[in-house]
Amino acid sequence: MSSYIGRHAQLYDIFYGEKNYQKEADFVHTMIQTYAQPNQRKNLLELACGTGNHAFCLAKYGYEITALDYSSDMISRTKEKMSDSQANIHFQVADMRQLSALDFGQTFDLAICLFDSIGYVLHNEAINSVFDGVYRQLNPYGLFIFEFWHAPAMLKSFDPVRVKRWKLDDREILRISETSLDISNSTSTVLYTIYEFFANQTFSLLQESQRNRFFQLQEMISFVKQHDFEVVKYFGGYDNLLTQIDEQTWHILMILKKN
Ligand SMILES: C[S@@+](CC[C@H](N)C(=O)[O-])C[C@H]1O[C@@H](n2cnc3c(N)ncnc32)[C@H](O)[C@@H]1O
Repeated sequence: MSSYIGRHAQLYDIFYGEKNYQKEADFVHTMIQTYAQPNQRKNLLELACGTGNHAFCLAKYGYEITALDYSSDMISRTKEKMSDSQANIHFQVADMRQLSALDFGQTFDLAICLFDSIGYVLHNEAINSVFDGVYRQLNPYGLFIFEFWHAPAMLKSFDPVRVKRWKLDDREILRISETSLDISNSTSTVLYTIYEFFANQTFSLLQESQRNRFFQLQEMISFVKQHDFEVVKYFGGYDNLLTQIDEQTWHILMILKKN
């Protein structure tokens, strides 16, 4: 079973319309320019690409991108959004937990997994299989840049109920997010209830539940060390200045180098 199924995948870009994908991609590009070997900045594997927003922004820099997601509905969205000029991106349905077994016909200079997507891989063994898969798919000294949800912020400040509304020309959307924590397993479960109210007085309703894991910084470092990656740098977001990690830090962006 995947997440972002059916209509939820269609609505994803509305829900994250204010997220600054271009700024994030620019920062990832700067990190690649700074930390990747000059001859290793060409082909890039993206895990959990969603509707392709980072891939579309990064493709402008000339990377050859293979981007995967296990939701076929999200991958369908990428294909609807793709234009003929974006021939350097290839989207496919695949599960990052099975990465080791996938044959792309090439290995990669770079890999990314952004917007806390590694947290969908809930269990230690599965997280280890993602790192193992990335290690195998990367060229020597290749970089893996990924973002994860930081446990202290979640535990201190999570919102049990959140309601957001989007007023569009032809309809109004209401999303209710109800979150519960499983502290012993470092996971949160969010039940999304999404209403679309149409101009003709009808409405539709969908519900999807998603479970995600959050991590302590040192816990994540011990995961990556099991896979012979070097921690090059980490930031509390997509900004060079965000070097202080504390309980206000919701997301950590970590840069690893394959040894
Ligand atoms: C929060 S969204 C982020 C999507 C995209 N990276 C972005 O920044 O917009 C998480 C994505 O992870 C995908 N995902 C979760 N578990 C996955 C898995 N095991 N393999 C591949 N994709 C997965 C979901 O389908 C979803 O598209």
